[in-house]
Amino acid sequence: MKYTKISHLNKLKKAGKKFAALTAYDFSFAKLFFNEGIQVLLVGDSLGMTIKGHNSTIPVTIDDICYHTSAVHSGVPYALLIADMPFMSYSTPQQSFKNAAKLMRMGANLVKLEGGLWVTETIRMLTERSVAVCGHIGLTPQSINILSSYKLQGCGKENANIILNNAKAIESAGAQLLVVECIPSTLAQIITNTLKIPVIGIGAGNSTDGQILVMHDILGITDGCIPKFAKNFLSETGDIRSAVRQYINEVESGSYPTIKNCF
Ligand code: KIV
Repeated sequence: MKYTKISHLNKLKKAGKKFAALTAYDFSFAKLFFNEGIQVLLVGDSLGMTIKGHNSTIPVTIDDICYHTSAVHSGVPYALLIADMPFMSYSTPQQSFKNAAKLMRMGANLVKLEGGLWVTETIRMLTERSVAVCGHIGLTPQSINILSSYKLQGCGKENANIILNNAKAIESAGAQLLVVECIPSTLAQIITNTLKIPVIGIGAGNSTDGQILVMHDILGITDGCIPKFAKNFLSETGDIRSAVRQYINEVESGSYPTIKNCF
């Protein structure tokens, strides 16, 4: 079995091939997803909502992410495993080093940080100390108390430019991957074409190099209504393994997301 590395995603980007990623929070689902062909998995702080039943990601702690990263890693030692740095776990350099190290010791290959320019110094310092980093811009759920709601970001020229400049700064700081969440498809396309590093979209149209979804959304078990950009693949296929394969096929062929999933 071969390890999935960032270099593999770089090759896919160069070849214009798309890839599908999913969140996972435990051994069994992670293993099933990997066996069906998902090579990039995220232990997202969305677990605050999907696993713990909170109404935001704010209560999630580094110990929560460590616990779930360790469980997921046991199921997918060969996958590329991204782990979220939760709210207030990267607010100072010392705290970031300590917490990133904890996640890597649990099996994370990359750590994901939400934020724009303010986080670039941290990305640089982590990268210099051999921590691979994934940026996360656009809708950043840890900022819910500033944003007021989980809504589309980057609308209008000025806001779009801020997000594009953040993307460039994150790449220059050394990030190896970037997640763009809930931004207009046209902006995501510009970011994807501008950056050399792979860009993974969620609610960002179908021009990004990769797509990521929360596993509960593709399986239709999300509490409340499923976001516009997501799709319940289980309702179409009837079993979990086929749902995952269908998700991968539709992402790779460019048939998901469709216009009705985009902004
Ligand atoms: O926490 C999470 O699940 C995420 C994805 C939505 C990208 O950050």
